[in-house]
Amino acid sequence: MKILVATEKPFSGVAVKGIKEVFDAAGYEVAMLEKYTEKSQLLDAVKDVDAMIIRSDKVDAEVLDAAKQLKIVVRAGAGYDNIDLAAAAAHNVVAMNTPGQNANSVAELVFGLLVFGVRNFFNGTSGTELKGKKLGILAFGNVGRNVARVAKGFGMDIAAYDAYCPAEVIEAAGVTAAKSQEELFETCDIVSLHIPATPETKQSINYDLVGKMKKGGILVNTARKEVIDEAGLIKLMEEREDLKYLTDIKPDADAEFAEKFPGRYFATPKKMGAQTAEANVNAGIAAANQIVGFLRDGITKFQVNK
Ligand code: 3PG
Repeated sequence: MKILVATEKPFSGVAVKGIKEVFDAAGYEVAMLEKYTEKSQLLDAVKDVDAMIIRSDKVDAEVLDAAKQLKIVVRAGAGYDNIDLAAAAAHNVVAMNTPGQNANSVAELVFGLLVFGVRNFFNGTSGTELKGKKLGILAFGNVGRNVARVAKGFGMDIAAYDAYCPAEVIEAAGVTAAKSQEELFETCDIVSLHIPATPETKQSINYDLVGKMKKGGILVNTARKEVIDEAGLIKLMEEREDLKYLTDIKPDADAEFAEKFPGRYFATPKKMGAQTAEANVNAGIAAANQIVGFLRDGITKFQVNK
């Protein structure tokens, strides 16, 4: 069996070592394609592989067409909007993710961005504290739950809304369950997004919704850029000089945000919520084990295109 690790944004060295050890033990060959710049490199690399591990790398119908022997693709991470699931099913390719494995890493970055934001981007002026502020968590999945856990350490008041998670589950975690996302935006000082990019969520974080935030509101996005209605957010931030937007996923209109909202907008140069050695090891090795489990024993736990 030949396995491809295709990561435009590479894993840490220690994660790559761990992944190789899993495949060595199974007697599988490993090929690495890191930091590639052209799709043609990916199309070439997938030709003779049985399985692949990816991160945010795009696996579309063209890639699947080129990957004649491919049986499984595992997205080492949570969001799998970068895989064309229907095309994978049509090609008899199993698609999986590794839920939860990088959740703590993303959650910690939320607070890195937040402290940076409330301390005025470390410009030396007097900022504010997170303690006592109300944090709204939009979607209470693995990342949202980790955000709630860390927020407790900061002494924050925490609320969450999740269309797919019962209020009792949210309340059992010591978090106030908001009745709607509108209520979450209306009642919180800070809202942190942890929703996937789906047809329902795309551009759902829009002018009207964010406009419900209280004076001095902060929107944090470590989820996906696609969930933001960028034109709507720009219009709102032009009208409301009190709002801040912090993200680790550069919007398409990054230059416009940066030019119009200095001191109120910050985006990391590259998506980095899950970019820690620990998250890479957790997600990468989980992906490798899931591939071995599938190819050897037919285990389809975590399949997302059933
Ligand atoms: C995820 O969905 O797991 C995160 O967005 C991490 O994405 P990355 O692997 O591209 O860092």
